Amino acid sequence: MKKQTIGPTSTQEEKNLILKAIEAKKRAYAPYSNYSVGSALVDEKGRTYTGCNVENACYPAGLCAERTAIVKMVSEGGKKIKKIVVAASSEEPVFPCGMCLQVIQEFGSDCEVIAVNKTGKKIQKNLIRTLFPFAFDPEKLNG
Ligand code: THU
Repeated sequence: MKKQTIGPTSTQEEKNLILKAIEAKKRAYAPYSNYSVGSALVDEKGRTYTGCNVENACYPAGLCAERTAIVKMVSEGGKKIKKIVVAASSEEPVFPCGMCLQVIQEFGSDCEVIAVNKTGKKIQKNLIRTLFPFAFDPEKLNG
């Protein structure tokens, strides 16, 4: 297996999370788009969860990698996303789609989002509040 190298700007914890997201991408089920995505996140207790995109013949039933990882976190008792990585198949890193931003917001309004390209060498980071400044969050329901 080809050894993955990743950029110098990350901590060891981040590098491990990035490698997990790249590994999860290999399990993507993406026969329709042929665009595999992996994700890995760390929760408030330091536990990690991974996900990949899982497409479907009924296209809208497909799930993005980030939401797969988040659903796994919540279903296993995790409460808050501290950091989430999205590992793309493209030359450039990609940040999560709008629907994933909404779900990240729900469980990680202070979290950092790390986007990496297909090699893991190009890394971009942003806070969810920068990516999604006017999010519809739970408080809005009571306001
Ligand atoms: N996809 C993700 O899993 N995460 C993203 O951030 C962008 C898009 C998936 C959805 C679909 O399976 C494929 O990539 C092409 O859109």
